[in-house]
Amino acid sequence: MSSGTPRAEVWQSPDLVRTFLDGVRGGIPYAADQIGMMTRLVREADIEVARFLDLGCGSGTLAAALLAEHPAAQAVLVDFSEPMLDAARASFPSPPHQLILADFNDPGWVEPLQSLAPFDVVVSGYAIHHSTHEKKREIYATVYDLLAPGGIFVNVEHVNPATAWVGHVNDELFVDSIHANHERLGNSMTREQVATEYVYRPDKAANILAPVEDQCAWLREIGFVDVDCYFKVLELAVFGGRKFPIP
Ligand SMILES: C[S@@+](CC[C@H](N)C(=O)[O-])C[C@H]1O[C@@H](n2cnc3c(N)ncnc32)[C@H](O)[C@@H]1O
Repeated sequence: MSSGTPRAEVWQSPDLVRTFLDGVRGGIPYAADQIGMMTRLVREADIEVARFLDLGCGSGTLAAALLAEHPAAQAVLVDFSEPMLDAARASFPSPPHQLILADFNDPGWVEPLQSLAPFDVVVSGYAIHHSTHEKKREIYATVYDLLAPGGIFVNVEHVNPATAWVGHVNDELFVDSIHANHERLGNSMTREQVATEYVYRPDKAANILAPVEDQCAWLREIGFVDVDCYFKVLELAVFGGRKFPIP
């Protein structure tokens, strides 16, 4: 399957999927705070969450957090990686949930979603930064179309650092955090080994990072309201907006 950004296809490799799910996901700095902000925003949007979409769902970490608060909701999970969807399958039985293999860089990617729209919530975690800036904007516009009025989009995302030094601080934070996660899991990895793996990790070349300010500006231009970067630590940002009109 082609993604338009060939380097993003590293995510279709079972090896990278295992490395991410076994050692990296649990080591993302402030991950619990980001997810806590995401669920808070959805709560405060004061909408009935009947159906939500998780774009670039991976194993479904964000979807699982939403379902914990909205157990009656139907989760629709989209990813272009078979091994990721395999990792998600057991947690999201169909019915009521739906797992869809689709590449959001492909022109017709939204077609299988049209009959499921509108969605009350759309979330995405560290996925859309693999697309070009032009595609990111297109994806955000599509998300706007898919949302119900008053629905909310929350992107938990990897964004461009303000300066190279800020990027360096971010990298060191990541290495410490992933190393601590390996220690928690009882894996014998030195900080140096983690740093080498982190710096040379295969998915790094697939990153196309955009400043969060630019991305918030795109959301406002599309028509989203209450747009903000709600939480940010170095290169990690939780941002989004609500679809106008708010009922
Ligand atoms: C870093 S992982 C994050 C997974 C999950 N959202 C999470 O928070 O744990 C990025 C995910 O985005 C998916 N992805 C990247 N580019 C994609 C594309 N063009 N279409 C669909 N999924 C994509 C990858 O397959 C991978 O599952």
